[in-house]
Amino acid sequence: MSSGTVAIVGATGVVGREALTILAERGVPAEKVRALASERSAGSSVAYNGTSLPVTPATPESFAGVGLAIFCASADAARSLVPHAIAAGAVVVDNSSAFRLDESVPLVVPEINGGLVGAPGGARAGLIANPNCSTIILLGALEPLRRAFGVRAIDVATYQAVSGAGQAGMDDLVAQARAFGRDSAAAPAFFREPCLFNVFSHDSAVDPDTGLNGEERKIIDESRKIWGDPTLRVTPTCVRVPVLRAHTQAITVELERPARESEVRAALGDAAWLRVVDDRAANDFPTPLKASGRDEILVGRLRPDPSERETSGAGPAMVFRRWSLLASGDQLRKGAALNAIQIGGLAGVLPAALEEQVGVVARS
Ligand SMILES: NC(=O)c1ccc[n+]([C@@H]2O[C@H](COP(=O)([O-])OP(=O)(O)OC[C@H]3O[C@@H](n4cnc5c(N)ncnc54)[C@H](OP(=O)(O)O)[C@@H]3O)[C@@H](O)[C@H]2O)c1
Repeated sequence: MSSGTVAIVGATGVVGREALTILAERGVPAEKVRALASERSAGSSVAYNGTSLPVTPATPESFAGVGLAIFCASADAARSLVPHAIAAGAVVVDNSSAFRLDESVPLVVPEINGGLVGAPGGARAGLIANPNCSTIILLGALEPLRRAFGVRAIDVATYQAVSGAGQAGMDDLVAQARAFGRDSAAAPAFFREPCLFNVFSHDSAVDPDTGLNGEERKIIDESRKIWGDPTLRVTPTCVRVPVLRAHTQAITVELERPARESEVRAALGDAAWLRVVDDRAANDFPTPLKASGRDEILVGRLRPDPSERETSGAGPAMVFRRWSLLASGDQLRKGAALNAIQIGGLAGVLPAALEEQVGVVARS
């Protein structure tokens, strides 16, 4: 079953442009793609597969003939325009936080709970939410361990790229780097803190009662919803680093069933959406630069909790409950645009040529 036009709402932003790149890479013809943005972008154009697409302002009337509408805009824009897209018959995948915790809206990572798309209350209801990028990378990295051994608790520290805050975040870091190259300085224009040569607590608002920032709250709530485990223990610390693209995470996971290193490595290695980068001799592990532009999430630096090793000895037969690892994932791709396009594939509303290619992330 397929397919109308694919509309990208927010086509001028970093996620929207990545969605266009993926559609073009996978052979969707320009006439099947509609680029929408705000009034500010009226009359502009975006690059598409060697040509350009006109950008038109998104209005309630923009969705006639659209099979899949991928929203890559603000939560406010999604709240006001998504009902019109659904009413016009489109399946909507929304990248914003507007509907993620709405009980009637599936929150989907295809490799984890793709079965919800098309289930009652799923795509037929017209709206699927794309999780927060950090949540997708975290649960994507841990899903094979959850399936094989169960997961009791997660500690995670994030090292998040500035593009996670959109084009304006990238512009801030680039302006500061350029100024440094000219032996001058550029004051922060978007973030409160300088990006260059700096690391700072995530720029989302901090809840005065819990001390959690918005990004940390999203990781907790969304992980529990996606894994269907309302008591899952998740302890995040979210930090912005001077990286343009791809988020990295230092994760410690506590398993339900203690496992051998060979078992944990096999579980990670068998997951088609992951790539294990773990060469201790060469000190070769996941980095954001290695993850940038890739569909897979990189995982590595795998090791058991050293204190468990100290109390229980070592050896290939030893089992451990707590494991640490590093993950790096391109948050514009698997953390946003690719995940949304995969969902469109599961819903059967992509142009036919694309459907087979995006059901599950392929190992390249
Ligand atoms: N960046 C990430 O890593 C990431 C990851 C996961 C999810 N997300 C979510 O994805 C969404 C887009 O983020 P982004 O990083 O791509 O932001 P961005 O670079 O700032 O782009 C925002 C886009 O939204 C458009 N827009 C704003 N108001 C609009 C309106 N009323 N109607 C139609 N379009 C409107 C903008 O159009 P103009 O250019 O015309 O202003 C622009 O195309 C956000 O909800 C964000 O939370 C982002």
